[in-house]
Amino acid sequence: MQNVTLNNGVEMPILGFGVFQIPADETEQVVTEALAAGYRLLDTAASYGNEEAVGRAIKNSGIPREELFVTTKLYVQDGPAEENTKRAFETSLTKLGLDYLDLYLMHQPYGDVYGQWRAMEELNRQGRAKAIGVSNFYPDRLLDLIINNEITPAVNQIETHPFFQRADYQELMREQGVQQQAWGGFAEGKNDLFTNPVLSDIAQRYGKSVGQVVLRWAIQRGVAQIPKSVRPERMAENLAVFDFALTDAEMASIAGLDTGASLFFDHHDPEIVKWLSARRLDS
Ligand SMILES: NC(=O)c1ccc[n+]([C@@H]2O[C@H](COP(=O)([O-])OP(=O)(O)OC[C@H]3O[C@@H](n4cnc5c(N)ncnc54)[C@H](OP(=O)(O)O)[C@@H]3O)[C@@H](O)[C@H]2O)c1
Repeated sequence: MQNVTLNNGVEMPILGFGVFQIPADETEQVVTEALAAGYRLLDTAASYGNEEAVGRAIKNSGIPREELFVTTKLYVQDGPAEENTKRAFETSLTKLGLDYLDLYLMHQPYGDVYGQWRAMEELNRQGRAKAIGVSNFYPDRLLDLIINNEITPAVNQIETHPFFQRADYQELMREQGVQQQAWGGFAEGKNDLFTNPVLSDIAQRYGKSVGQVVLRWAIQRGVAQIPKSVRPERMAENLAVFDFALTDAEMASIAGLDTGASLFFDHHDPEIVKWLSARRLDS
């Protein structure tokens, strides 16, 4: 597996496995299959409600802890952010059955972001989270966080797919030493991604699937990927992207698919701010 080196020297697989929208009662089985397929990076979140199931699959796999890269995410906290962030971290760790995380991400750019980040910095200094980062941060919020704090996020996990490529933003993150990691790397199939003619044409040339072309395109751009699938055949398919390479012309034709807009929602939209900020997790 190809790794990327994060800004603090931590090595992260460029391709991992995401578990968003996998029901908690199916997650243990799905993650067990993903680990058997060869995934070593698992991406979950407190808000996905399936950390315990991910933890059981990790434990039962018998894979040595140091061979795995586990990410979870802090949801927006009420009240005293530093104290609550540390508590939320311990809750996630307990649910996962782990004694450290490889990557802890702030899930949303809302709430007392500074207080949450200070607590995450402390967890990072203590070695309890080997790397810390953010998710869904747009350039203004990311730069503000970087400029006014000590530790620069190692990762920003953001919506990235052929219809919303974030190329300018990637340039800025590169300058700042922040690794881009895609969420919704397949746009969850929106906009007929899996039958897109440009992608299908390239896929046919290599005897690959559209999904593989999309993953390969991202990896060639240096964007980390965490595709989700509940089907073992697709888990394997999504890992088999290191035996071919797209040409500059093919990369350019995929660049032409960018619409510059989200297919999901805009974190600047006041209704989205209200919606995501109103949500609170039970623990
Ligand atoms: N930080 C955030 O705010 C945030 C937001 C969203 C997601 N994420 C993370 O990013 C991960 C990936 O994003 P996502 O789960 O939203 O969507 P995604 O990976 O873009 O798409 C998943 C969808 O694609 C299908 N699929 C997977 N592989 C395929 C293939 N080779 N051919 C055809 N269809 C395929 C899956 O169906 P089957 O399962 O039926 O195969 C599923 O419906 C998540 O699991 C989560 O870890 C983070």
